[in-house]
Amino acid sequence: MKNSFRKKPLSLLLEEMKSEHRLHRVLGPVALTSLGVGAIIGTGIFVLIGVAAHDKAGPAVTLSFALAGLACIFAALCYAEFASMVPVAGSAYTYAYATLGELFAWIIGWDLILEYGVASATVAHGWSHYFQDFIGIFGLGVPLLFAKAPLDFDPSTGVMSFTGAWLDLPAVLITFIVTVILVKGIRESARFNAGMVIVKVAIVLLVIVLGAMHVHPENWTPFAPFGYSGLSIFGKTILGDASPEGAPVGVLAGAAMIFFAYIGFDSISTHAEEAKNPQRDIPIALISSLVICTILYISVAAVITGMVPYNLISIDAPVSNAFKQVGIGWAQFVISLGAITGITSVLLVMMLSQPRIFLAMARDGLLPKSFFGAIHEKFRTPWKSTILTGSFVALLGALLPLRLLAELVNIGTLFAFVVVCSAVLIMRKKHPEAERPFRAPLVPFVPLAGILTCLTLMFSLPAENWIRLIVWLLIGMVIYYFYGRKHSALNNLNR
Ligand code: ALA
Repeated sequence: MKNSFRKKPLSLLLEEMKSEHRLHRVLGPVALTSLGVGAIIGTGIFVLIGVAAHDKAGPAVTLSFALAGLACIFAALCYAEFASMVPVAGSAYTYAYATLGELFAWIIGWDLILEYGVASATVAHGWSHYFQDFIGIFGLGVPLLFAKAPLDFDPSTGVMSFTGAWLDLPAVLITFIVTVILVKGIRESARFNAGMVIVKVAIVLLVIVLGAMHVHPENWTPFAPFGYSGLSIFGKTILGDASPEGAPVGVLAGAAMIFFAYIGFDSISTHAEEAKNPQRDIPIALISSLVICTILYISVAAVITGMVPYNLISIDAPVSNAFKQVGIGWAQFVISLGAITGITSVLLVMMLSQPRIFLAMARDGLLPKSFFGAIHEKFRTPWKSTILTGSFVALLGALLPLRLLAELVNIGTLFAFVVVCSAVLIMRKKHPEAERPFRAPLVPFVPLAGILTCLTLMFSLPAENWIRLIVWLLIGMVIYYFYGRKHSALNNLNR
């Protein structure tokens, strides 16, 4: 039991950084920021904004975006402090190992599979949807048998049904292409990402500028038809209203849902080992990518809810449909293209991050090193676990009803943020003397505010997510008990 709480000494982490068999240090501040923007802007703004405005918050979805952005900025400042202290590949997993102990670190590593692995599958699914929309403009289509997953799940009734299809082939294909690029090299991946980021940011700016010309301010009233709150504790609404199915509604509930749109900025910290000057550039990239996206998101939300009354916003394709409703039909072509490129880069960066977390865990002995720790001789990438991640994402994306899993991604990520904010507080107390090239401002206010806002968002999600999260973490603990505990590198160190 005592072993489960052993911590990885800070000095050991810093020493390990100097060793051979590390990843290529090729990323500068611009490449890192663009990886951040690459991971952030995707399904959230192109798809989820529709349900959030229509069913959860109305025009006040702009406030939901501001609130979720604020929670992320508190967390980002904490990530930045840690990433500048220990610029290695493991992100929240490594920070937890140094402060909260091995079991906790394992739990966070396991939890991050929800953020990166499961989110990738959700995103691959979204990609397929937009891709099929796009080729539909030219009268093309994917045969029904290969157009979607064989199973579907309706969250409002809890019923699982067969769709008649075999698999979602476009989701498998895009995952395959992204996996090949990722194995090839970090430089290739970063370049490919940068190209897509330019296209998607240009299209988001076009949405804002063109949309602003068609805003009717009367659409912003009533501003918050579902109220300003929406908080529930394990299914019992304690603040605000609930939908007929019992899920919380209001600005907070909207924020918990569109939190998905911000997921990904933290992945920058998983690239610390590939950064040329991590101590300076990772904090810059974390904060600048998040601030850029927050401004873009709030602007898009204001424009879309100003163009169309909130109850007429489309749930499937909110952005392109808003333009259609104001008579700019050609925008569908450009916006679908923006969504496809946007979502491809999200997939790329998420799938880039997952193997790097595995790598850090394998180096510590918590996962088999020969597989998860293997770095390709020529490409210097963790190729075996990249291929495994690709296969996992393709399988989930091809077969499973991902509506079941999307909110799980949010709760899993919020949990990781709570841990990182707590870890900063603990580290400041235990190692006040450690060198911190970047210091989060206003400690303890910032980490405490991060913990509080993230917990509030966790409680604003429908209750069943808590159960799913707990089941997932329990499975992780069983694996730790039978494998990680015995194989941990700290065992040998202690001996
Ligand atoms: N933030 C990413 C997206 O919205 C996950 O697609």
